[in-house]
This record gives sequence, structure tokens and C-alpha cells, in this order.
Amino acid sequence: MIITVAGFKGGVGKTTTAVHIGCYLAATASTLLVDGDPNRSATGWANRGTLPLKVVDVMASAKHAPNFEHIVIDTAARPDRESLESLVEGCDLLILPTAPEALALDAMIQTIDLLDELGAQSYRVLLTMVPSAPRKTGPQARAALKGLPLFSKSIRRAAAFEKASLKGIPVNEVKGDANARNAWNDYRAVCKEMMEVISG
Ligand SMILES: Nc1ncnc2c1ncn2[C@@H]1O[C@H](COP(=O)(O)OP(=O)(O)OP(=O)(O)O)[C@@H](O)[C@H]1O
Ligand SMILES: [Mg+2]
Repeated sequence: MIITVAGFKGGVGKTTTAVHIGCYLAATASTLLVDGDPNRSATGWANRGTLPLKVVDVMASAKHAPNFEHIVIDTAARPDRESLESLVEGCDLLILPTAPEALALDAMIQTIDLLDELGAQSYRVLLTMVPSAPRKTGPQARAALKGLPLFSKSIRRAAAFEKASLKGIPVNEVKGDANARNAWNDYRAVCKEMMEVISG
């Protein structure tokens, strides 16, 4: 199974999503995380600590890929049309994280217009960094994206994700943060939904 995480906007949680989907899948079968971003954020994450899966550069991925059951690919923001076309062709499901703010949502709608032009079939939008209730940002973003293929679960805004990235670990291993477990459970729920989407 090949899952690619992409989108036009920077800083919306692509790498965080790729890392956590990778960690979820790694608990079920051998999983490779391919760092397709020249900024090397996923590689940096792994190098600061320990992730329960192998992370390799995109140029090294061809050699390693045959040894793994699942592959998760993290990509750079702002892919051009050709890159997006290759991304779509190269995966079973394209995941498009977006933060619930106007600029990110606009970028998302642009991305989806282009995906539709390219005839892409398998993609899902993931709302990330959603502030908790009583703030209405999440439901409002969901309403703004109505009609698009959205994951029914969202990822909450949680400081535990930044701690996890700094320590080079997945969020479920962050100690002393009461919200870390909830944050992990959000990705777990999304991954379960992802498996249903892929198995049709
Ligand atoms: N759900 C979340 N709640 C709070 N902070 C988050 C969440 N997800 C990611 N972050 C933080 O937001 C920042 C950007 O996240 P991330 O690096 O995953 O985004 P990105 O889309 O990969 O960025 P880039 O476009 O630069 O590659 C990081 O500091 C990360 O720790
Ligand atoms: Mg990134």
C-alpha cells in the first residue's frame, strides 16, 4: 500500500501526518517512510530520536521499497502540476492535510480543482490542527469544504505534536502531556478510516 501526503500550503501538518500514519502502519506490517521533501523534515524527525519505522530519502527509496509492505511518502508544499500528476500516479491514496483557516482552505480548494482536472480518483482531505470545542473553527472549516472527500475524523491542535517532533518520537510516546494520548487517538481513528477507504 502506498500512501502519499501532499498539498499546496506549507506548515499544515503534512510531515506530522506522514510520520503518524507511518507509525500506525508500522505496528501492523513493515513500513517505509519516504522523505520526498528537500527540507528533510521527516528525516530530521527520525534523526532527533527514534521512530518505529525506517525513513529514507526519495533517491534511496527505489532500493528499499521492495522490502516493505507499506510505503508512506511525505512531500514538499506547492507541487507543480507535473509533480502532482506523478504523486497521484504513484500512490493508492493521496492524503491532503489542511488547517482550518481561510488561506489553507483556499489552497486546498485550488489543489482539488487541479486534482479533478488531472482525473485523480483516490484522495481525501484531512482537517488538522483543529482547536477544541467550544471553538467552532473545526465545524466551520468542515462546512466550507462541504462536498469534498473529507475524512470524517479530524486531528486536534495539540502542543504534544511539537514536543514529539522535537524529541524525534511519535506523539504516543510523549510523556507528561495529558493530551498526547488523545492526539495519537486522532491519527489512529483517521488511519482506520484510511484502511476502509483503500479496501473500498
Ligand atoms: N495537530 C497539530 N497540532 C499542533 N501543532 C501541529 C499539529 N500538526 C503539526 N503541528 C506543528 O505545526 C508545524 C508544521 O507541521 P508540519 O511540519 O507537519 O507541516 P508541513 O505541512 O509538513 O510543513 P512544510 O510545508 O514546511 O513541510 C510543526 O511545528 C508541527 O509540530
Ligand atoms: Mg513537511
